[in-house]
Amino acid sequence: MARTGPDARPLEFQEWLVARSDASQHAGQSGSTRRLASALELAPGARVLDVGCGSAKSAVLVATEHEVLVIGLDRSGRSLGRARWRARRHSFTRGLPLVRADAMALPFRAGSFDAVLLEAVAYAAPLDAVLPEVARVLVPGGRIGLVDIARRPDHVPPAADFQRLLGERTLNLLTVSEWERVVRGAGFDVIRAEGFPIRQELATVVEELGDWLRSVPRQLAWLARSPEARRLFFANYRVGLDPGIEGCLLVACTPA
Ligand SMILES: C[S@@+](CC[C@H](N)C(=O)[O-])C[C@H]1O[C@@H](n2cnc3c(N)ncnc32)[C@H](O)[C@@H]1O
Repeated sequence: MARTGPDARPLEFQEWLVARSDASQHAGQSGSTRRLASALELAPGARVLDVGCGSAKSAVLVATEHEVLVIGLDRSGRSLGRARWRARRHSFTRGLPLVRADAMALPFRAGSFDAVLLEAVAYAAPLDAVLPEVARVLVPGGRIGLVDIARRPDHVPPAADFQRLLGERTLNLLTVSEWERVVRGAGFDVIRAEGFPIRQELATVVEELGDWLRSVPRQLAWLARSPEARRLFFANYRVGLDPGIEGCLLVACTPA
């Protein structure tokens, strides 16, 4: 897939959402991030790259709970603006390094990271460009943790809602086994791959509530202003409520 053209631009819908909601923007929210982080078996001091970090909610959570160094990377200046806000809010004494770059061209030397997180980035990314980059920056035996949406087998999703969100981009709406196959095809050994319901456990809803409530005025102002925003917002909700869509949690490693 080409590295220029439509895919080289930020996906506006994702940027808008991250800029207007401080909650996690991936299936399972902080609950799936915790499951992922524990499956990554991060040693204290490990170097972790959060690709498509958005407002850095996961980066802060993982850095705090696992005593690792997390670098947040996103190609959107708006998303990184929210990430800087969060880093200040949590008074990150060690700092939260944030890098503006594209996942298709990671500005790091080979073997720079012990683990890479990809949460709700891969579903709209050219995987044949992103996964080799991720493999390159990992140490041998380094782990990738991916949380994304997946299609339940035999489910045909309503294409109109997805296309509205993605514009002309390719949608990687794969089943969990297809995610596994794609990741394996990029040279990773898959350690764990599972589907999970997108709807939240109560504990996660409560944990995210503060961030969500704080975002309501910004979201309402945005929705009131723009009919396009309303179309996108509700298309996003319909996708989240679609019983044929589930979350996919996948952990894999590069050959040691
Ligand atoms: C749906 S949000 C998820 C944010 C965060 N990972 C989370 O789970 O809350 C996707 C983020 O990925 C970023 N993104 C999308 N494609 C990217 C790419 N090719 N390179 C870097 N960042 C990308 C977007 O700008 C956006 O901030």
